[in-house]
Amino acid sequence: MDRKTVLVSGGAGYIGSHVTVELNEAGYEVIIADNFSNCDKTNYNGVCAICGKQFPLIEMDFCDLNAVRKLFSENKIDAVIHFAAFKAVGESVAEPLKYYTNNLNSFLNILQVSKEKGCNVLFSSSATVYGEPDSLPVNEKSERKPCTSPYGNSKQICEDFLRDCVNAYPQIKGIALRYFNPIGAHPSALIGELPRGVPQNLVPYITQTAIGKRECLSIFGNDYPTEDGTCLRDYIDIVDLAKVHVCAVSRMLKGEMKQPYEIFNVGTGRPLSVLELVTTFEKVNGLKLNYKIAPRRDGDVCAVWCDPSLAEKELGWKASRSIEDTLRSAWQWERRLAGK
Ligand code: UFG
Repeated sequence: MDRKTVLVSGGAGYIGSHVTVELNEAGYEVIIADNFSNCDKTNYNGVCAICGKQFPLIEMDFCDLNAVRKLFSENKIDAVIHFAAFKAVGESVAEPLKYYTNNLNSFLNILQVSKEKGCNVLFSSSATVYGEPDSLPVNEKSERKPCTSPYGNSKQICEDFLRDCVNAYPQIKGIALRYFNPIGAHPSALIGELPRGVPQNLVPYITQTAIGKRECLSIFGNDYPTEDGTCLRDYIDIVDLAKVHVCAVSRMLKGEMKQPYEIFNVGTGRPLSVLELVTTFEKVNGLKLNYKIAPRRDGDVCAVWCDPSLAEKELGWKASRSIEDTLRSAWQWERRLAGK
């Protein structure tokens, strides 16, 4: 049978590398494109080791329209999954132009060429588009709130770009996946999250504290109106999250979409507090973490978790890995990085 080809932009990054493994396992040809602006070749090499093959790797910038055109002309691409974007919320507040220039232009170029070639587009969106929700859990019909960061804005704007292009150009079909909090690593410990500098996100900060790279984890706020006073999030395992991309790509390529533009939440539907996550990490990995309660972090919402039932109904996908296994995998990955 003719194998379909999926282009993964940002395929050497944290999510892109895990998605490449799952696409390969499902029988897709994968082309990885990355400009390595925010990662090195560790995850690319890890993906090749897990799959036992070398993937085509194109070093390019999606802000370069000619390079995107060349890539699509030289390869028959059936679908593109777009991850190539900057993602640090705080940095985006300090450097909005960097974020808008990169995140919007790269996606516009993908849409332009997808229109020219007739290609399916899967966009990696975020729970950030819901802001501080009026009611929980959020479903796909919940209101999108004004975002507090240029990063969040760029996700909302790109969703709108995709919706408008799908409406205008019948040769493009689009799916936006709204991720909640992706965490963990591949069970092989050959790929995982590689934050540059001081981690901004909770789980890499925890693992780096546990390994001794950071002295102490700060828990941002214990006076929120939640049971233990810390924020609630919907932590989704990275391998589970990777698998939903296979379901979504297959739905697009098999012509099973109910509408030409669809949106799905990607989470577990189970809220977990920061303290619960820290305690579970300690328990499953048999260690004690040095942490302290610190003031709230600007821009944090108190609680957000999703109703993932639409993805289950339409895509046949459901998160299945336990939080214990996910937190074990995060620790194994950190230990492997440290050579321990
Ligand atoms: N936290 C700490 N200490 C830390 C880091 C985080 O207590 O050192 C807390 C935060 O206050 C928050 C929770 O852990 O309550 C999760 O924080 P993360 O930074 O890991 O994740 P966020 O929920 O803030 O952000 C994530 C993604 C963003 C995305 C956002 C909303 O990192 O890309 O969800 O979808 F925009």
